[in-house]
Amino acid sequence: MYADLISRAETDPEGYWSEQSNKLAWFRKPTQTRTMASDGLADWFADGELNTAYLCLDYHVEQGRGDVEALIYDSPVTGVVKRYTYRDLLGKVAQFAGALTELGVVKGDRVIIYLPMIPEAVIAMLACARIGAIHSVVFGGFAARELATRIDDATPKVILTASCGIEFQQVIPYLPLVNEACDLATHKVEHRVILQRQQLQAELDDTDLDWVALASLAGPVACVPLKATDPLYILYTSGTTGKPKGVVRDNGGHAVALLHSMEVIYDVGPADVFWAASDVGWVVGHSYIVYAPLLAGCTSVLFEGKPVRTPDAGTFWRVIADYKVNVFFTAPTAFRAIRKEDPQGSLLAAYDVSSLRALFVAGERTDPATYQWLCQLLNIPVIDHWWQTETGWPVAAIPLGVEALPVHEGGAGIRMPGFEIAILSDQHEVCEPGEEGDVVLKLPLPPGCLPTVYGNHQRLVDAYLVQHPGYYHTGDGGYLDQEDYLFIMGRTDDVINVAGHRLSTGEMEEIVAAHASVAECAVVGIADPNKGQVPLGLLVLKDDNETSAEDLQTALVSSVRRDIGAFANFRRAIVVARLPKTRSGKILRQIIRKIADDADFEHPATIDDPDILEEIRMRFMEEQVGLVGGELSG
Ligand code: COA
Ligand code: AMP
Repeated sequence: MYADLISRAETDPEGYWSEQSNKLAWFRKPTQTRTMASDGLADWFADGELNTAYLCLDYHVEQGRGDVEALIYDSPVTGVVKRYTYRDLLGKVAQFAGALTELGVVKGDRVIIYLPMIPEAVIAMLACARIGAIHSVVFGGFAARELATRIDDATPKVILTASCGIEFQQVIPYLPLVNEACDLATHKVEHRVILQRQQLQAELDDTDLDWVALASLAGPVACVPLKATDPLYILYTSGTTGKPKGVVRDNGGHAVALLHSMEVIYDVGPADVFWAASDVGWVVGHSYIVYAPLLAGCTSVLFEGKPVRTPDAGTFWRVIADYKVNVFFTAPTAFRAIRKEDPQGSLLAAYDVSSLRALFVAGERTDPATYQWLCQLLNIPVIDHWWQTETGWPVAAIPLGVEALPVHEGGAGIRMPGFEIAILSDQHEVCEPGEEGDVVLKLPLPPGCLPTVYGNHQRLVDAYLVQHPGYYHTGDGGYLDQEDYLFIMGRTDDVINVAGHRLSTGEMEEIVAAHASVAECAVVGIADPNKGQVPLGLLVLKDDNETSAEDLQTALVSSVRRDIGAFANFRRAIVVARLPKTRSGKILRQIIRKIADDADFEHPATIDDPDILEEIRMRFMEEQVGLVGGELSG
């Protein structure tokens, strides 16, 4: 029962997690379960030795499960389907690990993976894990500047990339972006390995290495034993400042937590097919396309396409039917896109999706209309659950594998074993049920959560631990109901969530502020019926500006696209009289967010609607802003 699990994890955390750790085939079993650090965080299984790639592949083959399908690659954008058994995938990973070894990559070296949703991305991640190299996957939609920032922070020895990605029908050449990033970065990468895809043959530099040629010459290498606390990967995520944080994941705690989540939350085991329709560039992809399904020994689906127009809004149903998917996980925005094209869900009728037992959604708030639509259409549990890059696995969910607790509509589930969620006021007081405050997690965090920020542990302390002593600050606001279910209301910092993509408004502001006509600016998230939120630029212009508002918007839209990527969906910037400020001249971001949130949109409209833009502009007229700013700035 759920209550027993929670109580056990709380009263005897070491016993609980030690028991969970016994489910893994360690090279050296840990004798220490939890070691506390002075900052309130903990190291897990510090003296244990293991290899995550071994647990994901070799272990299953050794158990006689080599012929089970590990990965099904389905790519409607290229018309390709490929299936890999555990034995196949092990062969490819061991060989590619050999190729990396020949390039001089050893334990602890960083490798950047900038690839679309193709099997080579999974192979590359596991090959790094096999030899103890630390991978850092960069989402393929990020532009050159973002890639350069990550190159300089992670200082990789090697970059693994491809000739192109495919967005709907459009071929996106990767190498020009990689070339620009390498030019922008101060750190010089030793090797670049490029996979030539059929859709585009990239022109390689003399020093570039061809993926297939390199791999074909290499022999397989064995798994390197790693300490549980050795890093498995770095995944950069947006924070309040312009510079993304390199969230580090360890090997031991991660493997234990992810396997546990497959059992307890998703109720998925070796005979099952699990599909997370996300991208390997995000934490959902790391945890639930690659590591957790393979640790659990089930079949994972890797999908290269979109929920719509590849070829139509029935594509998700087709994949579920083709591979008899048992549990499916995606972001609500994907279903909003499907519902927009097929409001009646008529396309579902063509497919047999009876294999599907449960649907999990996360990454952003699920709007009630989409939730209801899904429940009625599928007639299976639709479970909204909540977590973040930093935690690595769900903090709140419904523990389907233990007890199918009722869903509280609009909520993101109930806390999972190991997590203690609290809602605190600005004065660190515990809020009453139903009262909104900061969503925080009591320290120490359970296995699988971030042990540090790469190269800068103080950044972890400053970003997450100082706001509420004794707690990890999630950056989300919300409340707990009477029965302890969590309701997330949105971010309380300068992070916005655009189509399930986490973005820093601070980063966008840096780009916008660099324009010669802009005196000062703020970027704020505005509710959007399709993407959840979209960014809007608010500009105060220099007195001598001669650029028209329209030209300025065009220039800024193209700058954000060029510097961050098209997925930021920065499409609108409006000129306002001034921004609310404190007496000392600091921009009051909280008030700006509130003005944007309060915009009373009478009908579902987007910021493409001129009336909506005008309404927001009005709210930033001098008198109104002065009034609100004056009230709160004291
Ligand atoms: N490479 C290059 N460009 C990309 C890209 C990528 N990997 N991903 C998105 N883009 C581009 C799109 O082509 C589009 O470009 P355009 O402005 O030229 O048309 C732009 O970025 C907007 O992207 P997006 O807002 O993502 O819309 P979309 O129609 O491409 O995709 C979804 C819609 C719902 C499929 C997508 O947003 C999605 O998968 N979101 C969920 C993210 C996620 O998994 N989060 C984790 C929680 S589960
Ligand atoms: P990421 O680190 O990219 O996974 O983004 C994590 C953030 O996405 C969280 O801090 C939330 O703001 C948001 N988020 C994730 N899941 C949910 C959910 N189920 N409901 C509301 N917001 C969510």
